[in-house]
Amino acid sequence: MGETVLVISGASGAIYGVRLAEILGPKARLVVTDAGRLTLKHECEGLTPEELAERTGSTLESNDDIAAKSASGSAQIDAVVICPCSGTTLGKLASGIGDNLATRSGIVALKEKRKLIIVPRETPYATVHLENLTKLSSWGAIVLPASPGFYNLPKTIDDMVDFVVSRILDHLGHNNDLSKRWTGEELT
Ligand SMILES: Cc1cc2nc3c(=O)[nH]c(=O)nc-3n(C[C@H](O)[C@H](O)[C@H](O)COP(=O)(O)O)c2cc1C
Repeated sequence: MGETVLVISGASGAIYGVRLAEILGPKARLVVTDAGRLTLKHECEGLTPEELAERTGSTLESNDDIAAKSASGSAQIDAVVICPCSGTTLGKLASGIGDNLATRSGIVALKEKRKLIIVPRETPYATVHLENLTKLSSWGAIVLPASPGFYNLPKTIDDMVDFVVSRILDHLGHNNDLSKRWTGEELT
């Protein structure tokens, strides 16, 4: 069983990546971009990538280390999740640019036909974002926006985060009960 590369890039919503790292634990190889380091610090009470890796048991790889395990097509990696995914990282992926470990692991996922889950966060989207998402979707990536649903009546921010993270885990094939599932009985 391979590992999952978890990239936290510099879009708002670092908390989604943090929650995912907590669930994946040692199965995650964590890559945080420079801007991701800033959003993590700003949005998650000063948390550093090093502290996150230590707390969750995940393996932290440097975004500058283009020779790290996550950069290789022959490494046993099951999936790459970019959560949250900034417009910059999105644009690089849609252009085939792998200039750091975050983007390189995404490009490798495309070439190796590994599962690639992109969790974009921007509002509104520019046409270039929409075109890039369309490109990546047509190449097999799963575009799973950080768009929590409200039909399960969330009470807290954690509930809303867990809604999105639960859908990511579903697509990774990871059984989870993070969020209440729709049964079809709710409106009857
Ligand atoms: C506090 C903060 C919030 C940001 N939020 C977003 C965002 O929601 N979406 C986005 O695409 N970029 C956002 N940015 C801008 C990106 O960080 C910037 O485009 C950067 O180049 C992304 O680099 P990366 O993809 O290597 O992480 C934000 C920047 C900061 C400092």
